[in-house]
Amino acid sequence: MTTTTLWHNARIATLDPAHGADGWGLIEDGAVLTTGDQITWVGPNRALPSHAHPAHEVDLGGALLTPGLVDCHTHLVYGGHRAAEFEQRLQGVSYEAIARAGGGIRSTVAATRAASEDDLLASATQRAKSLMAEGVTTLEIKSGYGLSLEAEARCLRVARRLGAEQRLDVKTTFLGAHALPPEFEGRPDDYIDAVCAWLPELHAQGLVDAVDAFCEHIGFSPAQTRRVFEAAKALGLPVKLHAEQLSDQGGAALAAAFGALSCDHLEHLSDDGIAAMKAAGTVAVLLPGAYYFLRETKLPPIAALRAAGVPMAVSTDHNPGTSPGLSLLLMASMACTLFRLTPLEAVQGITLHAARALGLTDRGQLTAGQRADFVAWELDHPNELAYWFGHNPCRRVIAAGLERT
Ligand code: NIG
Ligand code: FE
Repeated sequence: MTTTTLWHNARIATLDPAHGADGWGLIEDGAVLTTGDQITWVGPNRALPSHAHPAHEVDLGGALLTPGLVDCHTHLVYGGHRAAEFEQRLQGVSYEAIARAGGGIRSTVAATRAASEDDLLASATQRAKSLMAEGVTTLEIKSGYGLSLEAEARCLRVARRLGAEQRLDVKTTFLGAHALPPEFEGRPDDYIDAVCAWLPELHAQGLVDAVDAFCEHIGFSPAQTRRVFEAAKALGLPVKLHAEQLSDQGGAALAAAFGALSCDHLEHLSDDGIAAMKAAGTVAVLLPGAYYFLRETKLPPIAALRAAGVPMAVSTDHNPGTSPGLSLLLMASMACTLFRLTPLEAVQGITLHAARALGLTDRGQLTAGQRADFVAWELDHPNELAYWFGHNPCRRVIAAGLERT
């Protein structure tokens, strides 16, 4: 039997314009009614429908309620770390130079291949718990540090197991086209053939929710990226792209032509890329952690994205090379201070728009019909989510209708 629960005595940031034109959609002295994993009603406590007979009532003590956070771009499953490379970069060696010398992603590939599935699950679980402690209820995890059929499958299985073991909804993305593995040295087109051949097999095993690629001069060309996207399209899988991170490759327009869910990074995005993303309904995923950690100076074109009406998401891009951070709230803060997002845009970026970047329309707002994923914060106003940093005001997390303990 599905249980009906009334979560009351909260200030609710619904992010639903129906509850206020300022975008926060605040409801004072509000309540949420859930049945099973669904929200069935949201409103002021006094307006609770008389036919609602909740089996349970939970007093939230006046907390601020927001939708559960969505981290829509992570590389959470990997072996080892790259602290030594960080030291090299601090001494002036560039990320590209390290990658070209065989370090970078390739060094993490070696450590990942050497790790057992259980070890990978243990380290990824520890990282996921940091994100979950700050209210993350939906997490995207990419492969891309295995770069063989067996090792990519292992990483994707770890992501699936993590989602099954934790009160967390995990979405998987196959990123076989992340870097050229050593056994394909000098043969990038052959490697792309292999990636395209692995995809149906991984998909048949139920391991793939979306397909991504790294389109860059140190990654794969637009023509190679296109072949990966065609393989995804043949299986009906949605695509996304690491686009224009270090240079403008025209990747965003290519991805948009395939109806991409999102284009991510985007520091070097052109006006044409923005127009193509707008026309395709593609979300711009901003990754201030990578911008910060690589000490980039070229900002993504935020004002132009805003003017064009392209939805902007914000994510950790957690990975050992360019963004070894595990705080989505810190990313919201950085999105404001470094990228000049407004606090409302930053909060929409880690909820509503992050869900859309994963193709999910059933979460990201607190309205009837949405998944019952929400967070109770010890805060007065949701703009504080982008204000405090190095501080975790998360007090309770309700994931799919059940409180996490
Ligand atoms: O999102 N840009 C490519 N992929 C990752 C970095 C991977 C790494 O350096 O290990 C990113 O920044
Ligand atoms: Fe990434």
